[in-house]
Amino acid sequence: MSRIKNLEDYAVDYRKSVTDPEGFWAAQAERFVWRKHWDEVLEYDFEDYNVSWFKGGQLNITENCLDRHLLHRAEKTAIHWVANDPREEDRIFTYRELHEQVCKFANVLKSKGVRKGDRVCLYMPMIPELAIAVLACARVGAIHSVIFGGFSAQALADRVKDAGAKVLLTANFGPRGNKVIPLKSIADEALEKCPGVVETVIVYERTKDHTSWTAGRDVWWHEELEQVDANCKVEIMESEDPLFILYTSGSTGKPKGVLHTTGGYMVYTAYTFKNVFQYEENDVYWCTADIGWITGHSYIVYGPLLEGATSVMFEGIPTYPDAGRFWRIVDRLKVNIFYTAPTAIRALMAQGLEYVELYRLESLKVLGTVGEPINREAWEWYHLHIGKGRCPIVDTWWQTETGGIMISPIAGVLPTKPTYATLPLPGIQPVLVDQEGKEIKGKGVEGNLCIKFPWPSMIRTTWGDHERCKNTYFSTFKGYYFTGDGCRRDEDGYYRILGRVDDVINVSGHRLGTAEVENAINMYTGVIESAVVGYPHDIKGQGIYAYVVCDSSKLEVSTITELKAEIMATVVEKIGKIARPDKVQIVRGLPKTRSGKIMRRILRKIAEGQVENFGDISTLLDPSIVESIKEGAQKVE
Ligand code: WTA
Repeated sequence: MSRIKNLEDYAVDYRKSVTDPEGFWAAQAERFVWRKHWDEVLEYDFEDYNVSWFKGGQLNITENCLDRHLLHRAEKTAIHWVANDPREEDRIFTYRELHEQVCKFANVLKSKGVRKGDRVCLYMPMIPELAIAVLACARVGAIHSVIFGGFSAQALADRVKDAGAKVLLTANFGPRGNKVIPLKSIADEALEKCPGVVETVIVYERTKDHTSWTAGRDVWWHEELEQVDANCKVEIMESEDPLFILYTSGSTGKPKGVLHTTGGYMVYTAYTFKNVFQYEENDVYWCTADIGWITGHSYIVYGPLLEGATSVMFEGIPTYPDAGRFWRIVDRLKVNIFYTAPTAIRALMAQGLEYVELYRLESLKVLGTVGEPINREAWEWYHLHIGKGRCPIVDTWWQTETGGIMISPIAGVLPTKPTYATLPLPGIQPVLVDQEGKEIKGKGVEGNLCIKFPWPSMIRTTWGDHERCKNTYFSTFKGYYFTGDGCRRDEDGYYRILGRVDDVINVSGHRLGTAEVENAINMYTGVIESAVVGYPHDIKGQGIYAYVVCDSSKLEVSTITELKAEIMATVVEKIGKIARPDKVQIVRGLPKTRSGKIMRRILRKIAEGQVENFGDISTLLDPSIVESIKEGAQKVE
């Protein structure tokens, strides 16, 4: 099926996708290599929550990402990697070379006893081997679980244990900006915290520095590769066999392992990649995300490779060695499609135009954003200074759980509007519901964003806990998948995402549960309890504000400055730097109702700098607490 090229195509496809979803998605799926055709396109039940797409179909996703392209695109660049250090040489992999590397590493995995259904955790820097290893897992039918390199040893241990991973893939070090993350020693520490799970650690030698070693468990990546050949048949998978687990945060303290399966995820990521970005055969596409997040899975690894695209993969950060790094790479590699996060745009905006004006940016055709709401100023700056007013911006709304882009402009096809994700893609049926779960129809309305019909790449379960999946997504509003986001549908029928309505905060596009951060804070000895809220932050979108109640004996021996520093360090240790609170306020108590519920609404207002209009506070157990928190907030830096 061809791409959507104009508004009429969009209208036709959208209508078809709603009136005949099975026919619509079957036509999309026909483009791929299936070892056995499916029997049933869709079966689902939103009550007990079960869904299957292309049941009975058999395939291997890597055959579609790699082998399928060997006939016509063997010498085309699949991945063009750029190192953190601008003096280090690029590494380029054609489809033929990528195929070969994936086959070899798949054989390494097999030699370590990895079989279909086994879990493999990856804790790696943004190097080609990460993409290669992800694909190698899929080739042998193992379930990959990538853990972002910014997570701490404890966070890594929690995830490795939850997944029950047999093998851990890592690198000795991970260069990022002017820092180097000691991935291997963090991994060592993590494995000490969950003994008896991982049997083998395969270590990529990213730098020549000294690497700690556990004989009998650790092996070098390059040495293992020398012992295998380059032929590796694909493992034949059922369409609904698991492809990967990716942990994300929710309202409770424990991160959940979102599970995606094979056939539907493949069809949907390819379809959305091709249409949203309007990828054309010779385009150079660059998504700046990390493969540790869903954006990297769907739009660095799977979507682009399924479409035979040429992708840039970047190890570094936007501001190293200076704030012109992105634009230098865009000019040098003639990038046509550029996909990044609002946080990065805001950070670069703050550095000034001199870093942009040095570059031509002529190759750019399409710009994209993802991960958090984009404010108007950032949208306009991106549009004017990067896109030179010429490139459509696709503000793509989606989630780890949705697997692929859900609400978004189709580049150059749907007229855009700053801060609006615009309209649903074909196959996606969004609805807004009120607190009672009643659909709010019409235009110019706001409500809880839900999706009322299945789409191929939706979450299948949360690893090891199907009840949790059902309760989180399908119980709040009966008959719908609940996203956790608030949303406005304006007079044009356009959707604007307003942000989370649950206890999740979005810091620099990273999702964090307030309960998760509170749990970490509470682990610091001397903390009695805490409450964490988000507040507007110029660069990060949201910052983390923690209200902490300490033991009086602790307050006697430590200064407030010391306490704050130690509380922050505890969070870094338990979760990672991404979760470090921006502000910590030591308080004598939290505003609680008589039934013991923390009134977060009040805490949010204070964190935002509002000191009036708290609404009804008469149900508070001790209303004087609010005054004292307000006063204390003045002094928080
Ligand atoms: C938010 C990232 C506004 C939203 C792909 C969602 C957005 C959460 C947008 C998912 C956008 C993502 N505009 N908000 N374009 N994209 N979000 O799982 O709150 O890391 O629920 O997936 O990010 O974050 P996640």
